[in-house]
Amino acid sequence: MKLIISGVFGRMGKAVAALAAADDDVRVVCGVDIAPGTADFPVAERIEDYKGEADVIIDFSHHSGTVAICDYAASRGIPLVLATTGHTEEEKACIAAASEKTAIFMSANMSMGVALLNKLCKEAAAFLDGADIEIIEKHHNKKLDAPSGTALMLAEGIKSVKEESVFVLDRSSVRQARNKNEIGIQSVRAGNIVGEHEVLFALGNEHITLSHSAFNRELFADGAFKAAKFLVGKAPRLYNMDDLVAQK
Ligand SMILES: NC(=O)c1ccc[n+]([C@@H]2O[C@H](COP(=O)([O-])OP(=O)(O)OC[C@H]3O[C@@H](n4cnc5c(N)ncnc54)[C@H](O)[C@@H]3O)[C@@H](O)[C@H]2O)c1
Repeated sequence: MKLIISGVFGRMGKAVAALAAADDDVRVVCGVDIAPGTADFPVAERIEDYKGEADVIIDFSHHSGTVAICDYAASRGIPLVLATTGHTEEEKACIAAASEKTAIFMSANMSMGVALLNKLCKEAAAFLDGADIEIIEKHHNKKLDAPSGTALMLAEGIKSVKEESVFVLDRSSVRQARNKNEIGIQSVRAGNIVGEHEVLFALGNEHITLSHSAFNRELFADGAFKAAKFLVGKAPRLYNMDDLVAQK
């Protein structure tokens, strides 16, 4: 598999490059990064500068590069694993348009465990009618976006079974009691925390907490790698972790 890694000198890009180096079936044909660095494969500053062959792209750069990478993948018909988070509405529209021309796999969290957490949260929300739902996410002090894409993904999952849900990200100006339809999302940024997500379902007499802890970044790199292998040869559309889980 000929692989392009976007964001190759970042924390996640390096983890993907290490996995690629250990896999005889994978060859990194180009790394892309706006920051300087060294690698034992060619590296371009802009993805448009790479004109050679590629079977798939894994992007762990920054959402501001999404439009360029989607245009590139769509115009060249190269499948794209989009692992960045924090996309704007304009970027989301661009992803949707590009997925009509090439296969795009997108997930704010590439962990199979989080895919299961997402499924369990939907079940719990449907089952525990009337529960107050709060999401607490914790990440390292270098993370650029808040709340995490995973927390929003979990909230969207719950909203898919409880349409009346309203996301509340900041209660600092609130002067009234909690509304039943709220899903509060709280962010903690500290130290080296790789990623923790806790979803609390609070009823009057009992609490249920579903949680996931990531212990290292290889977990996400591994998921993105599995997604890349899954995506090669797939028809254009938007894929996500449900498609990968359905294969198991
Ligand atoms: N989906 C997942 O499972 C998952 C897991 C971890 C991180 N992430 C997301 O992946 C992204 C990267 O995370 P990270 O911790 O590796 O960040 P990082 O800051 O360590 O690395 C990002 C790298 O991308 C480069 N970059 C930035 N803009 C670029 C552009 N336009 N073109 C090319 N390169 C560019 C930076 O120079 C840097 O080397 C973030 O959006 C993060 O939220 C997703």
